[in-house]
Amino acid sequence: MSELETISMHVITSAEEICAVVLAAKSSGQSVGFVPTMGALHEGHLSLVDASLAECDLTVVSIFVNPTQFSPEEDLEKYPRPLQRDLQLLTERGCEIVFVPTAAEMYPEGVESTVEVGSVASPFEGASRPHHFQGVATVVSKLFQVVPADRAYFGRKDYQQALVVVQLIEDFNLPITMRVCPIVREPDGLAMSSRNTYLRPEQRQQASALWQSLRIAEQAHAAGETDVAAIKKKMMQHLNSAGIENVDYIAFVTDGTVQEVETVAGPTVVAIAARLGKSRLIDNHTIG
Ligand code: PAF
Repeated sequence: MSELETISMHVITSAEEICAVVLAAKSSGQSVGFVPTMGALHEGHLSLVDASLAECDLTVVSIFVNPTQFSPEEDLEKYPRPLQRDLQLLTERGCEIVFVPTAAEMYPEGVESTVEVGSVASPFEGASRPHHFQGVATVVSKLFQVVPADRAYFGRKDYQQALVVVQLIEDFNLPITMRVCPIVREPDGLAMSSRNTYLRPEQRQQASALWQSLRIAEQAHAAGETDVAAIKKKMMQHLNSAGIENVDYIAFVTDGTVQEVETVAGPTVVAIAARLGKSRLIDNHTIG
């Protein structure tokens, strides 16, 4: 028996078939929610599934490790792919339909077009990972075509990714509504991520300093500090004292944008990216 046949749910690998299923559901009056993922599911993904199940008649989850959003030196080959476990988790959650395309299904031979993303994709993650958002925007556009759902569910942990997708929806008049759901954290505050499994035990311990530094920012602001440079200094001191030296960026941006601010004067997203060994972690928190 194949891996896929052991699970009692509807697993679809063909783009044509998933599209037909979604269109049939919509024409019978059902609302459809869509949760795009790269698998290795954790409670963060499952909270998106829960949100879709609560709001929509039918929920479709896609599992596809999209090669075009990885650069050659990144972890495409070793990205975790526990498909059987993922399907089990989705079944337990009550999700009926999972789209699991192959790379050839998503990118058949001869595909040449990509989606060029604008300024929202340039700083922060875009600067550290060139072409990453082009790959994300391309695959998300393709997924939105083959899974023509009413609502798409994304996690706020990937704050900039969510902005890129919002921009994509607006720029191409895509008939889908974006829902951005809260970050789900481990008990020590570490934002859930499929890549957390790469962390060695001592790095896993250090990793909670990211969340602690975001809380330090929140507390400093609550105590009256509005100067971003002063808050960043406190955050950096904490990260360094936890042994995290390799901080890619700490950015304070107006909520809903990638516009950096020097003073916290309203809802402000504090975004952070740091490397622990070979792993790169991102997190963010809204203050003000
Ligand atoms: O956030 C992710 O898991 C991926 O970037 C996404 C949106 C599924 C596109 O491959």
